[in-house]
Amino acid sequence: MTLAEIKATEAKLLLPTYERNPILFVGGEGVHLIDENGERYLDLLSGIGVNALGYGHPAIERAIAEQSKKLIHISNLFFHEGQAELALRLTKMSGMDRAFFCNSGTEAWEAALKLARAHAGLLRSEGRTIGTKFLALENSFHGRTMGSMATTHKAKYREPFDPVMPGVEFVAFDDVADLTARFSSDLCGVLIEAIQGEGGIRPVSREFMAVARELTRSTGALLICDEIQAGLGRTGKWFAYQHYDVRPDVTTLAKPLAGGLPLGAMLCTEEAARAIHPGMHGTTFGGGPLACAVAVAVIDTIEQNGLLEHVTDVGTYFHGRLNELAGKHSAIVDVRGMGLMLAAELDSADLAKQVAGAMLERRIIINRTSETVLRFLPPFILGKQDVDHAINALDSILTEHAPLEAAAAATGGKHVG
Ligand SMILES: Cc1ncc(COP(=O)(O)O)c(C=O)c1O
Repeated sequence: MTLAEIKATEAKLLLPTYERNPILFVGGEGVHLIDENGERYLDLLSGIGVNALGYGHPAIERAIAEQSKKLIHISNLFFHEGQAELALRLTKMSGMDRAFFCNSGTEAWEAALKLARAHAGLLRSEGRTIGTKFLALENSFHGRTMGSMATTHKAKYREPFDPVMPGVEFVAFDDVADLTARFSSDLCGVLIEAIQGEGGIRPVSREFMAVARELTRSTGALLICDEIQAGLGRTGKWFAYQHYDVRPDVTTLAKPLAGGLPLGAMLCTEEAARAIHPGMHGTTFGGGPLACAVAVAVIDTIEQNGLLEHVTDVGTYFHGRLNELAGKHSAIVDVRGMGLMLAAELDSADLAKQVAGAMLERRIIINRTSETVLRFLPPFILGKQDVDHAINALDSILTEHAPLEAAAAATGGKHVG
């Protein structure tokens, strides 16, 4: 099918959940995607934080080829080699004691929410005073299934599906006083992205994380860190919470875990795991042999190729170059992030939209989140020359668009195109 035929067929047959960019990708190599005409695009988004090793990585191809000849699926009724191998690595990297495998971020988050409820129930049965409510953060994003959605802050994600799961309150972002005021023994869990992803690449402060740890410890509520976007090395450490010297009770992973195959994980402490016994939770596909074998290959490649150090090195360079741009273009009002989870916030949503579109015209893929924020989640194998290429493009696009934008704003009008 041609792109036009695909577009027409999808428009007629698919649930209209996405507004796709009109590009048909047919391949990829390293940090580049390749379209139907053989044009190469520098990918600074990696399938929304998934393709950490880029495209066509030999370690992933090898793991898929070898494992697919052995076993792809057996269900969770029997043993295969993959879950134990993967759990050994993930528990060591995270400081957690146990793992549960599923298929996506939102499923990992649902598992975490259910664990918090079950753990609180266990504590109540042991005579402790602890409730069933959750405290999440303003601008949080935890997924689209019912529980995840209820703990996701922005109304646009929740309201069409009301009523959502009750018992969730939101704390003003990074506001220690609000956290302290809202905390009580009614809560079974406090839910934090150490660096908010969809919320605009916003790290919480060390103080906020430390207070959340202290408060939850005082009642037995679980501190649950969502690492679905920030985890597995994107910030230069395996887990973003490791920048905070805090050990949560539960954490969740997904996006980059199996190199593009669907796989999620919920990791937890032995104490939290006490609440779960056979039959309480499960999944047909989760933690299958193929996805687990690829995840082991992804983790081993990150380790063997020193990619955490590389992410820190190239991320620091990228951050510095974005700061340079911010010094030159007043339209950039903030530069944030850690490692290769970075953002440049612009002074207008229209401008951010134009810039993302103009980058795509120059065959550089980024995205816009939270209206005004340009988000960069490139593959971990990104080189400094790729950063330079992107910065030069941003520089010229901002030079072209920002003065017009400012002038248009001053006259109350809007610059178009
Ligand atoms: C922090 C965070 N949590 C949860 C999710 C949901 O993951 P999934 O789309 O795999 O269900 C996302 C997805 O963007 C995310 O960024």
